[in-house]
Amino acid sequence: MLITKKDFGRTKKGENASLYTLTNKAGMKAVVSDFGAVLVSLFVPDKNGDLKDVVWGYDKVSGYENNGVYLGSTIGRNSNRIGKSKYNLNGKEYTLDKNDGQNNLHGGFDGYNARLWSANTDEINNSVKFMLDSPDMDQGFPGNAKISVTYTLTDDNAIKISYEASADKDTIFNMTNHSYFNLDGESSDSVLEHQVLINADAFTEADAESIPTGKIIDVTDTPMDFRNYRVIGKDIDSDYEPLKFGAGYDHNWVLNKTEGAVAKMRSLNSGITMEVYTDLPGMQLYTGNFLAGEEGKNGKKYARRSAACFETQYFPDAVNHENFQSPIFSAGDKYKTETIYKFTVES
Ligand code: GLA
Repeated sequence: MLITKKDFGRTKKGENASLYTLTNKAGMKAVVSDFGAVLVSLFVPDKNGDLKDVVWGYDKVSGYENNGVYLGSTIGRNSNRIGKSKYNLNGKEYTLDKNDGQNNLHGGFDGYNARLWSANTDEINNSVKFMLDSPDMDQGFPGNAKISVTYTLTDDNAIKISYEASADKDTIFNMTNHSYFNLDGESSDSVLEHQVLINADAFTEADAESIPTGKIIDVTDTPMDFRNYRVIGKDIDSDYEPLKFGAGYDHNWVLNKTEGAVAKMRSLNSGITMEVYTDLPGMQLYTGNFLAGEEGKNGKKYARRSAACFETQYFPDAVNHENFQSPIFSAGDKYKTETIYKFTVES
């Protein structure tokens, strides 16, 4: 399919950013940018066949330069938190930016989501590949790393995000996509009526700063049990300590091993269901508890809890927990992972 490229404005540093639009045979459209390798828009058909843009984002590149809430962001080298902004690797202690209290969040102040990546389009596969060179000790992570993120739009209405990276020293790779989804699109101000399903028997317990304690908690009989569809708003404000600590859902689920979708979200209004597929062990469901009226596309203000993120990942702070699968990759090893968001409609 034809991939179109257009100007997305100039960054503060004077770089020219571009927007790439992918279209499939069903009419679905994905718009991505080489600035931050961000996902800007995702136009999905609803039950009436009308296209709805189901992700929050900005009209201009300047929005993405000041994107404190990580709309549509590619996150790296490490997504989620590292406790006390410290970790030990091969007997050496490394320190990271403290950009979330005492802790490190989503790589630090100089995130991959606010850098210009280079781009290659591939019209045969209907994909755009973004590439970034991350130097040794970038953000506090060792090794010169070559990183790529490829967005592919398939004819069965899935956006596939493929990550590849390797470095010349042992390092951490734990990337994710931080898109905020609302399946009713721009007309909606709340995600609380959406229903979510997560194929997970447990979640990782976290403290008041959202740093894992190392304990894995069974979801049975808790508001964290999403093994059947649960309305997001049903228990979000209940008197349950993890939800108080997270100011709502902002937790990592321990995904059950499955060939199928690890999570789903649906809206009965638009009839759209989103399925999430990944090969990673964890997923943070974050219900936009810290959104506070940021102004986005078409002047829309993004209200608290107006959208939800499904951030597939190694568990938060995995580098500091021996019982969590390690996000450390040896020099020369390939980090290769894929997450798919697939859209269907029920009429
Ligand atoms: C992640 C975190 C949240 C919040 C957002 C950004 O999803 O888990 O606590 O920091 O990023 O606003």
